[in-house]
Amino acid sequence: MTGSRSRLYRVRRRNNMAFDIYQEEIIEHYKNPQNKGVIEHPDMFSHGNNPVCGDDITVYLRVNDGIIEDVKFDGRGCAISQASASMLTEKVKGMMLAEVAKLTADDIKEMLHIPLSAVRMKCATLSLNTMHQATAGGAVR
Ligand code: FES
Repeated sequence: MTGSRSRLYRVRRRNNMAFDIYQEEIIEHYKNPQNKGVIEHPDMFSHGNNPVCGDDITVYLRVNDGIIEDVKFDGRGCAISQASASMLTEKVKGMMLAEVAKLTADDIKEMLHIPLSAVRMKCATLSLNTMHQATAGGAVR
């Protein structure tokens, strides 16, 4: 193997290892989701679904002075949708509502670290879109 080919091989091997680690993290979040459940009498909540597959999610928020003190999600979906919901709820706990409103699909892509097709992007952003609905006052008690 020439120098440049072996360097390319090492880069590809490193990238594959990183990809495997991120895939494992997604599977771990899917099997052991963080913040899964229901908040009784939430300050804000919203229900969303993926029209492509019919999977759904509900996001519940406990908010104090514009800061998310607690967040939970419930529902059913594929590994990508459930893992992204789990990771997103970890990320937004302690954030200001205004900061959460600025999160984009790119933030979700950055969280998941794997290439996503257009169909899979709908899975990945289901929780974010539902979170945005909730923080925009989708349903406020
Ligand atoms: Fe339904 Fe991914 S296949 S949310």
